Amino acid sequence: MVRTYVEELDSHVGHEVRLQGWLYNKRSSGRIRFLLLRDGTGIVQCVMAKGQVPEEAFAAFDRLSQESSFSVSGKVRKDDRAPGGFELDVTELELYQTAAEYPITPKEHGVEFLVDRRHLWLRSARQHSIMRVRHRIIRAIRDFFDGRGFTLIDSPILTPAACEGTTTLFETDYFDLGKAYLTQSGQLYAEAGAMAFGKVYCFGPTFRAEKSKTRRHLTEFWMVEPEVAFCDLEQDMDLAEEFLEYVVQTVLKDRAEELKTLERNMKFLQNVKKPLPRITYDEAVEILKKNGVNFEWGNDFGGTDETVISQQFDRPVMVHHYPAKIKAFYMKRDSKNPDLALAVDVLAPEGYGELIGGSQREDDHETLVKRLEEYNLPREAFEWYLDLRKYGSVPHSGFGLGLERTVAWICGLDHIRETSPFPRMIYRITP
Ligand code: 4AD
Ligand code: MG
Repeated sequence: MVRTYVEELDSHVGHEVRLQGWLYNKRSSGRIRFLLLRDGTGIVQCVMAKGQVPEEAFAAFDRLSQESSFSVSGKVRKDDRAPGGFELDVTELELYQTAAEYPITPKEHGVEFLVDRRHLWLRSARQHSIMRVRHRIIRAIRDFFDGRGFTLIDSPILTPAACEGTTTLFETDYFDLGKAYLTQSGQLYAEAGAMAFGKVYCFGPTFRAEKSKTRRHLTEFWMVEPEVAFCDLEQDMDLAEEFLEYVVQTVLKDRAEELKTLERNMKFLQNVKKPLPRITYDEAVEILKKNGVNFEWGNDFGGTDETVISQQFDRPVMVHHYPAKIKAFYMKRDSKNPDLALAVDVLAPEGYGELIGGSQREDDHETLVKRLEEYNLPREAFEWYLDLRKYGSVPHSGFGLGLERTVAWICGLDHIRETSPFPRMIYRITP
């Protein structure tokens, strides 16, 4: 007999198979017992009739509490009324374990209660859908770059210096060598990669000691960062919009079922096609003023500012040419106005905030040395990075897309904590 999975039942209709999983729900009616088996790939109703199965198997029904583990054998029957389209006519049932009383029930639980039980919460249908979407997004990201000649260059997680400002650094002791920091971004190393391979990306966990409690911030999140040699800001934006279109359209096509479970309104997602609107920081400030927001030129946008700006558009919007002083040290300045950085942020529609941050990089050695001083960064730790400007420096650009922000937006979630299997936030490091 074939051991199979719920998602593969369509290729076994009329045949006897064995499924292994957990009890999602059960009920009985006369001499018939109905079991909903969940195996991680789907849920199927198993029907067991008295007299048709060994006495012991029939009796095991009473010991099956929610989330008990068991296996069933039976014949696969096509049934268009059944959720998933199939049922199993049970011939044998074997109990692995009767589960203790399961804390998560169909009734409403508070979010804190659920996050405390994240290791169990992951089994519920909604979380299942979110993680399946997350996985598909990750695969789409890799497929996009792998299919366009980019080489994956992993950047280190333990690093000797800050990359995105010193206020959000996680610090740790590093043997006799002093302090080490958990990486905030793999970008600087990706730049070295770009000078070696032309087009590269890194994709891994990054860390920010974010002291704010918001719906959009995690202290540990994944970021994908492409970096391209001989690429200016315009070309960087071209890449970002092509990339976003690919990821969103792929997920819409391949995870329609999950997005339906999440009751996602897909209108704004279907719109994610290039070209995406491009506006300058100045134009974004104008939008804020027109909408009655009291905003001073030169400040960074806060969450509500981003929402007001993005509400003017039916798809993600690219905001470029920010004031340099609110941006990172490595960004190249606009030759026509050195107060501006050649930076771009991509803001999601519907108030999901910044998905992508990117820029053209400073490629002049002397200018970069000056910047390190201005930003109070220790030159020794950046000597290797300065080398990239000594040995065949070229215009180059890249960006970083936050995976969890992207999952929250595509799934339509209120809070970023549900986008990560085990979220890390200022007030949470368990389970
Ligand atoms: O804008 P950020 O800080 O850019 C960088 O780190 C650049 N080095 C990227 C590059 O050019 N290679 O972060 C990029 C993205 C943000 O747009 C956001 O999506 C996400 O990372 N992000 C966070 N996501 C969750 N929690 C946080 N605390 C985040 N901080 C940034
Ligand atoms: Mg940013």
